[in-house]
Parts: sequence; C-alpha cells; structure tokens
Amino acid sequence: MQDNRVLSGMRPTGQLHLGHYHGVLKNWLELQNEYDSYFFVADWHAFTTHYSDKIDLEANVIEMVVDWLAAGINPNTATIFVQSKVPEHAELHLLLSMTTPLSWLERVPSYKDQQLKLKTKDLGTYGFLGYPLLQSADILMYKAGLVPVGEDQVAHIELTREVARRFNHIYGREVDFEEKAEAAIGKMGKKQAKLFRSLRKAYQETGDDEALVKAQALLQEQQNITLGDLERLAGYIEGTGKIILPEPVSLLTKASKMPGLDGQKMSKSYGNTISLRDKSEEIEAKVRRMPTDPARIKLTDAGDPNKCPVWQLHEIYSDSQTRDWVVDGCTKAKMGCVECKQPVIKAIQLELMPMQENIAKYQADPDLIKQIIHEGSQKARGVAKETMKEVRDSMGITY
Ligand code: TRP
Ligand code: SF4
Repeated sequence: MQDNRVLSGMRPTGQLHLGHYHGVLKNWLELQNEYDSYFFVADWHAFTTHYSDKIDLEANVIEMVVDWLAAGINPNTATIFVQSKVPEHAELHLLLSMTTPLSWLERVPSYKDQQLKLKTKDLGTYGFLGYPLLQSADILMYKAGLVPVGEDQVAHIELTREVARRFNHIYGREVDFEEKAEAAIGKMGKKQAKLFRSLRKAYQETGDDEALVKAQALLQEQQNITLGDLERLAGYIEGTGKIILPEPVSLLTKASKMPGLDGQKMSKSYGNTISLRDKSEEIEAKVRRMPTDPARIKLTDAGDPNKCPVWQLHEIYSDSQTRDWVVDGCTKAKMGCVECKQPVIKAIQLELMPMQENIAKYQADPDLIKQIIHEGSQKARGVAKETMKEVRDSMGITY
C-alpha cells in the first residue's frame, strides 16, 4: 500500500465558495506538503445525480481546477487530474461490480437519503446505486492509504474497505501462493526472516495487533523484495491471499465550521454562499444583507451575539480585540449592526483578494489549465495502468 499517498475528489459543481475553501481546500493545502497527493475532479460522478440536466461540464471542470490552483494547490507537488481522462476507473468499477453484493450498496446511507432529498429527480438508476462503488474504484486504483473526506463520506470509505477485502479474498489466492510467499521470506535475510515468521505466528495464533503492525513495518523496510512479493507477504501475515487492492483509511476532515450568510452551514443548496469569485462590492452587499439578532430592532436595543450569524463570522475572521469590541458594542447597544459588520467585510475581501488575482491570471491562460490537467491525468493514468494490470492478472484476464 502507498501509506504516503492521499487521494481525494470533488464533484465539478463549478465555482467554489468559502465553505469549500475553509472545509476542504485548506486541508488539501496542508496535505500536499506532507503526502504524495492525488486530487481529482470527479466528473463522471456528476452524471449519477445530474444525468438529465444541461450543465456545462467543461466550464465547471475548468473553473474548479482554476479555483484549486488559485487557492494554492500546487500542480508540481500534487497530481491534479480529471476522472474521465483516466478511463481505467470505468474498467475497475465494472470488475468490482461483479463481486459487490447489491445489499452493500443499498445500505449505504446516502442512497436512501439523497433519493428523499432530491425528490424531483428519478434516482432509481443503476448509476446512482453504483456511485459509491465508482468512488471505491477511484480510491483503490491508486492504492491510496488515506482518503480525506467529510463525515458524509465515511460510509463510502467503509464500503471501499469491504470491497477491497472481498476482492483480495476471491482473487488473491494464487495456486502457488504459499510457495511464493515462503520464497519471498527467504529473500529477507536470516535474522529478519526469523523475526517476520515469529510476528506472523504471534498474530495468527493470538490475534496480537502489535505483532501485525510490527510485521507490516518490517515489510516496509525491505529493499530487495519486489512489489508483488510485498503484496503477497502483506496477505500472508494476515492469513489471506495476496493483497492486490489495499484497504484505505479515511482521514476525517473536521466538520467545516464555515457558516453561511444565514447562520446555517454554507452550501450552494441553501443559497447562503460567498463565492471565491465574488467581487468586493458583492461581498459587502451580501454581508450587509445578513440577518442579525432579531431583538435588535433599534440601535438602542441590546443584542446577543450568540443569536447572530454575523458573530459566527467574527469567530472565524476577527482577533480577540475585535471580538471584545463586538460583544461590548452589541450587548450594551453601543453600536449598530452595520458598523459591526465592517471588520468581517474587510477580512473576507482581504482573504479573497490574492485568490482572485490568481484566478484572473489563470483565466487569462486557458491553455495552461488544459496542460496542467493533461499532465496530471497522464501521470495518474500511468499508476492506473499498473493497477489494472495487476487486477486483470489476478482475475485471469491476461489473454
Ligand atoms: N463522492 C465524493 C463527494 O460527493 C466525491 C468523490 C468521488 C471522492 N470519488 C472520490 C472523494 C474519491 C474522495 C475519494 O464529495
Ligand atoms: Fe450581530 Fe453585531 Fe448586530 Fe450584535 S451588533 S446583532 S453581533 S451584527
């Protein structure tokens, strides 16, 4: 498994807003410096719910990548790609569908939830039921150890783990598995081989998790063992077959605290967003229209910041001095809401200004964006081709 690899995707919903920035992108910015990061636009996923809507997918894909870059995702550090440019995802999805029980997909919470929520759409489709499996294919293709996701996606990562386990169980059993595994242990050097055998025994006989972790770590250190043998030995420790598709772990992103203009979570479907591309005047107008504590009808009515969505923005953007000024001015009816909103307006404008300059630069060079997508997708495809070769080999599709 690529312990050091992170993979995450976003549906191409077009322009991003502050909720995406604070909830997802800032997290990606940190991850890209620490991990071998793969970030992709999940364009096929858009069809699982929007198959009959006329959306300009190309514009949406480009706008989203521009926003990622403008926020600081670095194409020289992270691999940025588009799902449909790596058609191997479709092949893996198909092959995984053969071993995935229907009931596993039917019990994914988003299946029923979304059908209830999006009542005007007919989501009784094969594609919609299968979309978490497409997501599994996205992840398993890169053997990513970690998948940064929000709470709503954790069930999909769980499904991915089960799908991988089942696949490895069914197709990881080579006829000469034991012989090959033993031969690989022989290549470890006497001392290490002995240690490996005793750790394996400890895990298998007593379920000692510490022994499991130690044995896995020992494998990671091996220099002269092929990738294929490492995968065999990883399975050999656990008493399964060869591990072709390693199980990923979800890296839970803290719930984004980014409140929208009405105090609910910022989301396109609530119409309470500030887009990364909103001009200064638009930001000002939107914040000025924000509702405040309903008890403050006149300037002389004291208010309570805890009942005010503007306060939630102060909690994100203002230092303690400004926050003290707000509490004092609000609860003692010393200042009006228009005045209170000023520092928030300024802070958002300042936060977005450099990003908007970057957006303008990238927009002026559409060929560069296309090239970044092309190069990232080529690189991703190289990894995908290798995985698919192993998958086909293990299933006997080698003719
Ligand atoms: N389903 C995810 C969402 O709606 C997007 C996605 C698709 C994804 N494939 C992925 C996220 C793989 C992480 C890993 O947000
Ligand atoms: Fe909200 Fe500020 Fe008005 Fe108080 S003064 S109600 S915190 S906007």
